Amino acid sequence: MKTSLAIPVTKTQSSRLSQTDFSNLVFGKTISDHMFVADFKNGEWSDLRIEPYAPLHLNPSNAALHYGQSIFEGLKAYKNENGEIIIFRADANWSRMNESAERMCMPSLPEEVFMEGLLQLLELDKAWVPSAKGASLYIRPFMFATDDYIGVKPSDTYKFIIFTCPVGNYYSKPVSVKVETKFTRATEGGTGAAKTAGNYAASLFPALQAQKAGYDQLLWTDGKSHSNIEESGTMNVMFKINGKIITAPTNTGTILKGITRNSVIQLAKDWDESLEERFLSVSELKSALEAGQVDEAFGTGTAATIAHIYKIHLDGKDYILPEKPADAFSHRVLAALDGIKYGTVADPHDWIIKI
Ligand SMILES: Cc1ncc(COP(=O)(O)O)c(C=O)c1O
Repeated sequence: MKTSLAIPVTKTQSSRLSQTDFSNLVFGKTISDHMFVADFKNGEWSDLRIEPYAPLHLNPSNAALHYGQSIFEGLKAYKNENGEIIIFRADANWSRMNESAERMCMPSLPEEVFMEGLLQLLELDKAWVPSAKGASLYIRPFMFATDDYIGVKPSDTYKFIIFTCPVGNYYSKPVSVKVETKFTRATEGGTGAAKTAGNYAASLFPALQAQKAGYDQLLWTDGKSHSNIEESGTMNVMFKINGKIITAPTNTGTILKGITRNSVIQLAKDWDESLEERFLSVSELKSALEAGQVDEAFGTGTAATIAHIYKIHLDGKDYILPEKPADAFSHRVLAALDGIKYGTVADPHDWIIKI
C-alpha cells in the first residue's frame, strides 16, 4: 500500500530487536522500537511524528489520570509466507475508535492520521512482526486527555499514540467461564460500547474473583436483571445450540461491537449457517446445557480470534461441553479467519491490507 502523508521519523539509536527472544513472547510485555504520536491542540491534530518508544512526561494534574478520558483499540499485523506484512480490518478499528471518542467527549481522528501513522510505523518496525505460526504483532492505538487541569470537564488537548508488541498465540487452550450475576460490566446508557479505560478497570475485581474460583473468564450478563448473556472478558461470545448460532445484538450500547464478531457473522452468512443476533437468556442457556444441546460455545476477539469454551459455571454448577468434531463451526471459522489474516486463503470481503 502506498503512503502519502509526510511523517517525520526519529529512529532509535539502540534497537532492542536483537535482544528479543521471539520464541518466548509474553503477551504485552515486549514493545517494538518505535511509536507514532500526534497531538490535538487548538482544535486540530498536529505534530505527527514517529519516534523511539519511550516514557511520556505527564504532569500529576493530567486530566486522563483523574477522570479517565482514555480510549484504545487493538488489532494485529501478520506475516505471510512471503514475508509480507498484512493487517486485518484496520479501517474498522479506526471507525470504532471514533465512536468511542464521541461517547467520551474526545476529538475524532481523521482516517488519514490513523492509517498513515499505522502503515508508516509498521513499515519502519516490520522486522518486529514475528513469523512463527499463530504469532503476530499486536497493535495498540490509543488516545488520552492531556490538559493539566483537575476540573471535571472534557480536556481541550489530547495525545494519540500507536505502539506495537510482538505476541505469540494468545489463548492456545480452551477456556472456562463463569456466568456473572452479581457484578455489572455495562448498563444501558453507560459506556459499555466504548473501548474506554474505565470499563476495563471496573472489570478487574469481578474477573479476579472468577479467577480465584478457578475460571479463566466471566460471562457478563446485562446490568439490569442479570438475565441475558452479553459478552465475555475482552471477547464477544457465541453459542451453537441445536444447530443455531446465537450471539447478543450490539444495539443496546452495552456490548463492544467486536470486529471479529462482525467477521464471524459475515462468514456464517456466506456459508448459509443459521445465525441469530438475539439475547440468549441465562435460563435458556441453562436448559440447553442440562439437555446437552449446546454444541459449541466460543469467544471472538482480536487477541485469540476464537477462544473455545470447554466449561461454563452457572447457578453453582459446572457444565462441561462436549468435544467438538473437526468440522465444528468454530474450528472452520477460526481456520478461515486465520487463513485470511495470514494470506493463505482468498479474502472475498477486502478485509486485509498488505504493507
Ligand atoms: C469488551 C470487549 N468485547 C469484545 C472484544 C472483541 O472485539 P474485537 O473482535 O474487535 O477484538 C473486545 C476486544 O477488543 C473487548 O475488549
